[in-house]
Amino acid sequence: MTTGHVLLLGPPGAGKGTQSARVADSFDIVHITTGDALRARKDMETEFGTPREYMETGELVPDPVVNEIVKAAIDAADGFILDGYPRNREQAAYLDEITELDVVISLEVSREELLLRLTGRRICEDCGTNFHVEFTPPETEDTCDDCGGGLVQREDDSKETVEERLNVFEETTRPVIEHYRSHKSFHEIDGERSPAEVFESITTVLESALPGS
Ligand code: AP5
Repeated sequence: MTTGHVLLLGPPGAGKGTQSARVADSFDIVHITTGDALRARKDMETEFGTPREYMETGELVPDPVVNEIVKAAIDAADGFILDGYPRNREQAAYLDEITELDVVISLEVSREELLLRLTGRRICEDCGTNFHVEFTPPETEDTCDDCGGGLVQREDDSKETVEERLNVFEETTRPVIEHYRSHKSFHEIDGERSPAEVFESITTVLESALPGS
């Protein structure tokens, strides 16, 4: 297990989940993703209501709920790649307090492409593998190539909710990218290429930024 602390930023649909899974595997670090953590706790009662109420409309879940999830995950991990957090300036300030980052990578993709990727995404309800109706279709329609499970659309991948998520990103999360632009190891990567090409660029950055990886 290596000890790199990696932050992957980018808009919804930029490929953060796709790339983080590969990086975690290849560099033997933990994939920390607030999206998946919240989906697993959608109906958890908090003083702010349930995460579901926010996620289904594309809004951000309140900071105290998310901060607690991230702190517990970071405390338990040696090396990690963090995906989906921080999403506003307050979360960024909290993250800076609880850990030090070795590398920050920002994936850039146009809004037009993001809309196509997200509305066409399908997920296996059994094993979670990602497909895309056009870019990476399964061999048999609506069936997972890996485990034979059924493929479903994520509740927040409808066109209307995706538009709202992209608006929230521009207004609230874009300033987080600006916050990290002055980090000692900040890298912007073109995410509008094939997953393999994007992964190759990320690997090059990590191999030089994480000694001993
Ligand atoms: P979350 O699950 O984090 O969603 P997101 O940031 O909107 O990101 P996605 O998972 O949709 O996109 P991704 O970049 O991971 O793309 P992927 O690799 O899947 O958050 C969901 C909700 O939870 C939020 O709206 C909010 O309510 C709440 N939440 C989460 N974190 C929070 C926080 N910190 N604070 C408050 N609330 C929070 O790829 C997308 C598609 O494109 C796939 O179909 C994939 O196959 C395809 N694809 C990927 N790469 C490529 C490529 N290079 N070329 C072609 N297709 C590609």
